[in-house]
This record gives sequence, structure tokens and C-alpha cells, in this order.
Amino acid sequence: MKELVIAPSILSLDYANTSEQLKELNESNAKWMHFDVMDGHFVPNLTFGPDILKGFKKCSDLFMDVHIMVDNPEMISEIFVKAGADMVTFHLEAVKDIEACIALCRKIRAAGVKAGVSVKPKTDVDALLPYLSEMDLVLVMSVEPGFGGQSFMEDMLDKVRKLRKEIEANNYDTRIEIDGGINAETGKLAVEAGCDTLVAGSYIFKQNIKEAVDSLLCQK
Ligand code: DX5
Ligand code: ZN
Repeated sequence: MKELVIAPSILSLDYANTSEQLKELNESNAKWMHFDVMDGHFVPNLTFGPDILKGFKKCSDLFMDVHIMVDNPEMISEIFVKAGADMVTFHLEAVKDIEACIALCRKIRAAGVKAGVSVKPKTDVDALLPYLSEMDLVLVMSVEPGFGGQSFMEDMLDKVRKLRKEIEANNYDTRIEIDGGINAETGKLAVEAGCDTLVAGSYIFKQNIKEAVDSLLCQK
């Protein structure tokens, strides 16, 4: 399994204390920054555009993990590739079919950016299994996407186990990320099931950022 990476979700950043929280984040052991893009259609919430990503890139050297929860990922992925995303993860539910999903992964990779595919809680990962070599990451949502602070859905770990088995059997390079309701306890369960990338929002930003990140890293 790959080295465990923590991706703090800046959806939960305290925007009244942005510079202070960013400084703490930069000094922590987090290697990625998880950037949630919501369009008000695919999910019932609205968040950041590309200029905000550009601003964060000026304040941090963290790997920019952009999760686009939008109806038109073909168009929006391009905008965030241009804005400097290191990884763009779009939703399987937002593309027409698996062929369109693979085509978009190839397009993102061709631009020199890593490509991820995410599934909502009610979507199976089976359709992705034959194509994992086309993806740098699969993101398993462990809450309904749209809001931070929801409770972890433990039954999503079956998808993680299935993905891990397939990745190990074929020696794929694909990461498994989980997003929603992650804290020290649920993070441990996720790592045990086979996740190597943990997104956490409210858990990290509602306490000392460095300590929270470290508590997620000490899983083993
Ligand atoms: C939800 C977002 C998550 C969110 C997680 O749709 O994709 O990244 O920030 O927040 P927590 O960790 O608070 O569940
Ligand atoms: Zn997310």
C-alpha cells in the first residue's frame, strides 16, 4: 500500500481566520489540500471557483486535490486544470457512461494532471474495476456529497475493500481516497479497509490542525 496521505478539506476552514489557519496547515504533516468545488446543481451547495484555487496556490505548496461535484465535469475540469490543480476528481454519476468517464480521465492526464473518479454512497464501484489503470485515484464518498460535518457511513468500506483487492491483484498504481465523516476512529477503519488517502474537514479545522493531522497519520 502507498504512504498514507492526509488531505484536509478547506471547506471547513475558518474563513474569518484564513491566514492563521493556512499557516498552521502549511506547518502540519498534511501533504495535500482538498478543494471542494460545488455547483448548486449536482449537490445542493455552492463553493469555490478557479480564482480561489489560484489564491490558495500562492499561499501554499501543498498538492491541490480538487474534487469537482458538478453536473458538467468535462467543462469544469478544464477550468481547474488551467487554474493549477494537481489532481482533478470528478463524479462517475455526472458523466454519460463509463466510456465518457475514461475519456475524461485520459483528457485530464493528457494535460499533465492526475485524474480521479468519485462515487456517491449509492453508486457501486464495479463499473470502475476493469479501468483502474486509467485512474490515479478513486474517491469513495462516505457521506452524501454537499456538506461537511456529516456522519461517516461505515458500509462504504465494502467498496474500499473491493477496490483494494483489485488494485493489489493487478499491481495498479491507483490511490483509494475516502471523504466524509473522517476522524481518528473512522480514519483507522478506513485505513484498515485499504484507504491510503484520507480527506477530513470539520475534524481537522475544529481543533489544533497539526495535532489533528498527526492523529490521522498514526493509524497503524
Ligand atoms: C463533502 C465534501 C467533503 C467535506 C468533508 O461533500 O466532499 O470533502 O469537506 O467534510 P467532513 O470531513 O467534515 O465530513
Ligand atoms: Zn470532497
